[in-house]
Amino acid sequence: MFMIAADRVSPPSTARAAEARSPFVRLSELLAGIEPAKPPINLAVGEPQHPIPDFVGPVLNAHLFKFGRYPGNKGTDGFRRAAATWLDRRFDLPRPIDPEHEILVLAGTREGLFLAAIAAKRYIGPKSGRPAILIPNPFYAVYAAGAVAADCEPVYLSTTAATGFLPDLDALDDALLARTVAFYFASPTNPQGAVADAAYLVRLVALARRFNFMLLGDECYCELYTRTAPPGMLTAAAADFQNVAVFHSLSKRSNLPGLRVGFVAGDKKFLAAYFDLRAIAAPQVPIPAQEVAIAAYADEKHVVENRALYNAKFDLADQIIGSRYGYHRPAGGFFLWLDVSSKGGGEAATVRLWREEGLRVLPGQYIARAQADGSNQGRDYIRIALVHDKTITSEALHRLVAVLG
Ligand SMILES: Cc1ncc(COP(=O)(O)O)c(C=O)c1O
Repeated sequence: MFMIAADRVSPPSTARAAEARSPFVRLSELLAGIEPAKPPINLAVGEPQHPIPDFVGPVLNAHLFKFGRYPGNKGTDGFRRAAATWLDRRFDLPRPIDPEHEILVLAGTREGLFLAAIAAKRYIGPKSGRPAILIPNPFYAVYAAGAVAADCEPVYLSTTAATGFLPDLDALDDALLARTVAFYFASPTNPQGAVADAAYLVRLVALARRFNFMLLGDECYCELYTRTAPPGMLTAAAADFQNVAVFHSLSKRSNLPGLRVGFVAGDKKFLAAYFDLRAIAAPQVPIPAQEVAIAAYADEKHVVENRALYNAKFDLADQIIGSRYGYHRPAGGFFLWLDVSSKGGGEAATVRLWREEGLRVLPGQYIARAQADGSNQGRDYIRIALVHDKTITSEALHRLVAVLG
């Protein structure tokens, strides 16, 4: 057991800009001027390199003329219906979601997650004390940027191998929860690939309702799993979805990171408030892209093949890495989260892997923040995105083991 209250950091205002800095900018700074000895392989960015589905070209072509229209902010009726049908099918929802009031299109989840912090703070309204946004540590960088933009205190919740890489909900103190306006929660998690079970999600939803904050559920990796399909937060939220909004994307599910299509679904009162902000500030999603998304959500074949390919690469990791660096096959996602503390820690290993083997990896501390005691739960780790084909992945993992031993 560990105490969240004593185990968090609230940044002074001078540190706000640093709070929101891109981990990839920091990585470029770290590796600037270092010539790699071998042809580079980029394992740092979680950009899927698997083939895009066959239907993308024909669908886009059939709807090209729709580039001549401004897209509406909510998403087309067809898109919202397709997203609703998929959600119901995938998560076996307690009741069908209403595509008219409970779904909005997003230009990928990144912008959606960012703007959701601002919307959540406005929607939840004043609380006792400085508004807080809870973020499991380490985390997807956009959560902290969203919290800072919403002028909330980002509160980083400790997660370690000992807690299954999920925050210990028993350790959250009531005073903190009382001033919380939102909780960013991903399952599967990036970077560790941890999956929250249904009981954990039910407890999370109960906390959101008891203390009235928005649970912002990032489910963009939900179709990438090694054994069983991760349960969803809307299922845990039961019939009215109150205090819960989930974020989905085609970037990982369908290998379409460049399409920029996702959606948010859940609490209709929150979505109405969120829509007010989005109607002015959010990027619109081109109608032809939404047509591709309709086809993508209707098709499971490419998703099954995609998952199989990731699993084949985890097989490679099992064989080549074995039990080195604390590796174990994660429940979901497409990252390896490797403990390189015996190799000098994440930054030192990153520099070495780049210089000696041309492997570009991400130091874990760039996607984590120091806790109040100065410890950084990412410092011992590197993150590796298994986004390439099997041949490149195998080559990369052999190079990794060759240099780190
Ligand atoms: C945890 C997590 N959430 C959200 C996103 C955003 O993805 P997109 O904007 O492509 O939907 C990413 C992208 O890497 C991610 O890792």
